[in-house]
Amino acid sequence: MSIQRVTSKWAKTKVMLKSDYLRSYMPPTKLFGRGSLQSMLSEYGMVYVKPINGTFGNGVIRVERTTVPALGYRYQLGTKILFFSTLDQLYHKLAQQTKKRSYLVQRGIHLLKHQKRRFDIRVMVQKNPHNEWEVTGIIGRLAHPAKIVTNYHSGGTPMALERLMGDHANASELAAFKNKLRKVSITIANQLQGAYPNIKELGVDIAIDAKLHPWILEVNTLPDPFIFRKLPDQNVFHKVYRYAVAYGRFKKRSSRP
Ligand SMILES: Nc1ncnc2c1ncn2[C@@H]1O[C@H](COP(=O)(O)OP(=O)(O)O)[C@@H](O)[C@H]1O
Ligand SMILES: [Mg+2]
Repeated sequence: MSIQRVTSKWAKTKVMLKSDYLRSYMPPTKLFGRGSLQSMLSEYGMVYVKPINGTFGNGVIRVERTTVPALGYRYQLGTKILFFSTLDQLYHKLAQQTKKRSYLVQRGIHLLKHQKRRFDIRVMVQKNPHNEWEVTGIIGRLAHPAKIVTNYHSGGTPMALERLMGDHANASELAAFKNKLRKVSITIANQLQGAYPNIKELGVDIAIDAKLHPWILEVNTLPDPFIFRKLPDQNVFHKVYRYAVAYGRFKKRSSRP
């Protein structure tokens, strides 16, 4: 039995929204269009527009209503920043940018920062050798200072969550928060397994807001296990890799592809 991969962020989002518990951890998300852009910008002030089949942070755009330098909209893709004074001008640019693929528009979360850089979290959930879902790794990802995504392939830096959360939570708050992450991530795995019976591993991207509420940004099937090599505790990567070998993602002695 081969490992199932699901690329569509929209398909996975719809499956997760069927769970009332998970919905409380998901930023409102719609198919991108003029109507959804307008309504979500007026309701939330900041949104992310992202390709349904994207990876590595490629093509992810942050859009925000602005009052400074003037009333209007701020757009950022990569390190390129543009300002528009009307929604029509903004939409024209986005329509151009998004015409080749389908996109989602999602409520933007104001990510916590560490040394002025945004960060979010990747949680690894895997089938263990007893065929149960287990959270095997949690790691923070610090965005490149000039970027709006935290992905390693877009210049982000994977880093221990303890280091990143030091300014935001004490030890017992962090322990409680990590338990919450585990509970949310296991629930995601069970929920997605109902629709996709042959998934074996998930990489859950989670944003944290100023109230320490976790928000599920997206869920990856076949996530990169190698970022866990960046943790000081090498046991984490070793377990991640051992489980991946057990369900057949890697051959026993293969090295990084
Ligand atoms: N709704 C959002 N609010 C804040 N940041 C977001 C949001 N959606 C995405 N991001 C940022 O962009 C990154 C990439 O988005 P993601 O949905 O994970 O797509 P990809 O498949 O390209 O990784 C996230 O890790 C996060 O840093
Ligand atoms: Mg991601």
